[in-house]
Amino acid sequence: MRALGGPRVTLRRMNQTVVVAGAVYDRGRLLAARRSAPPELAGGWELPGGKVEPGESPQQALVRELREELGIETEPLTRIAGEWPLGPGLVLHAWTARLLHGEARPLQDHDALRWLAPEEADAVDWLPQDRPAVAEAMRILAAC
Ligand code: CDP
Repeated sequence: MRALGGPRVTLRRMNQTVVVAGAVYDRGRLLAARRSAPPELAGGWELPGGKVEPGESPQQALVRELREELGIETEPLTRIAGEWPLGPGLVLHAWTARLLHGEARPLQDHDALRWLAPEEADAVDWLPQDRPAVAEAMRILAAC
């Protein structure tokens, strides 16, 4: 019998591609990244990440994207409940992740980074679609 629940079923159901974003924690702070592209999103702050590629798990995609975009090594921890539509064919998921090593630098897609303590959650202009995940990520951080 064909196994259900493989990556393509989970990650591409209804032809939706999952964008996985990372709530990266280090020393009691959450990493926020300001997008430099595309023009309609430039200047907005997000949880960094990107599309899950075929054959990848969301955790693998997150580790790869954070390495490519920020030059950091991370360990994904848990999925933040919920999913948020990004437009045709794209849906946003978020995972908490721990910084293992490296110093985050904006290598691709971003032009500024900030590490925010829970009381600084509103210090940047988050992209609307990221706000529920950011709120939950900050709740988790404040409870640690
Ligand atoms: O790098 P890749 O092409 O895989 O993905 P991306 O361009 O970083 O993200 C794909 C789409 O998801 C873009 O439209 C991003 O703006 C959006 N996105 C988002 O809304 N919030 C995030 N935290 C990450 C990505």
